[in-house]
Amino acid sequence: MKVSIIGGGGLVGSCAAFALQTGGIVREISLLDVNEELAAGHALDLLHGGPSIADQVINSGGYEHIPSSDVICITAGLRRQPNESRLDLINRNTDLFLKILEQVDAAGVKQDAIVVVVSNPVDILTYLAADRLKLPASQVIGLGTQLDTIRFRSLIAQHCQLPPTQVSAIILGEHGDSMVPVWSNANVNGLPLDKFPGWTANLAADLFKRTKGSGAEVISRKGGAGFAVGVAIQDVIEAIALDRRQVLPVSSVQDGTCYGIRDVALSVPTVVGRSGVVDRYEIDLWPKEMQGLRTSGNVLRQTLNQVLNRVGSR
Ligand code: 2OP
Repeated sequence: MKVSIIGGGGLVGSCAAFALQTGGIVREISLLDVNEELAAGHALDLLHGGPSIADQVINSGGYEHIPSSDVICITAGLRRQPNESRLDLINRNTDLFLKILEQVDAAGVKQDAIVVVVSNPVDILTYLAADRLKLPASQVIGLGTQLDTIRFRSLIAQHCQLPPTQVSAIILGEHGDSMVPVWSNANVNGLPLDKFPGWTANLAADLFKRTKGSGAEVISRKGGAGFAVGVAIQDVIEAIALDRRQVLPVSSVQDGTCYGIRDVALSVPTVVGRSGVVDRYEIDLWPKEMQGLRTSGNVLRQTLNQVLNRVGSR
């Protein structure tokens, strides 16, 4: 499977490339970036590590890589300032993103290609990609709250001194301020988290607050996320590559079958496989979680309307 990363010269794109390289699952990784020299430098650096990792093709270049790509991952975009919300990024990144979509469309994509959107605000841009590209909406997936979910799990594990791979807790909704923590089924290897010694409602609130602020915290400390977002992208792309049918909290355009939410892209429990969005699960949530999800949808719909009023729809 060939993966092209548009924005591969940047921190997010190059970390995603390294995560995919160490995963050893995909066959070819192509880094595309407006800064061609930087993309070529990352590709060369990755190539040098190949003999100790996996037998892959790693290269860089332009949109000539798009027609042969099975997955097109778009990470390009201006990064948020520490005190800037992801939605504030909207106008700056929307225009850039639409230009990228035009170039992808002009280059031509495989009928079964999957587009993975990472650029922020990811839920808005996922909707635009599904609207603009001549692919079924099910073949356009946004990274959504997969990154928030692994951050959430990592912080719970760290505080409670639990093995992070055994902590299961999911974030749904917007990859942004209205994201929803799903405590109703949070567990450690099947054991309910809220029954663990020392667990309190205040602790839960603090852990979610830290999770929600993680993007801004990483930006303020090191300028922007790289390693964890690269791993989150690897999770999604390898689920596609191996047709894993994994249930992941990723963003896609909703059709009303989950919680009655439609015509907006956000993260619900989504079955991800080689064909993209294979299915979605409307899992039973607490009423406040359900309300949070609908609020997330409303917040995103309002912003989406503003964007579509400015840029139009296909
Ligand atoms: C973050 O939360 C890049 O939006 C991503 O760090």
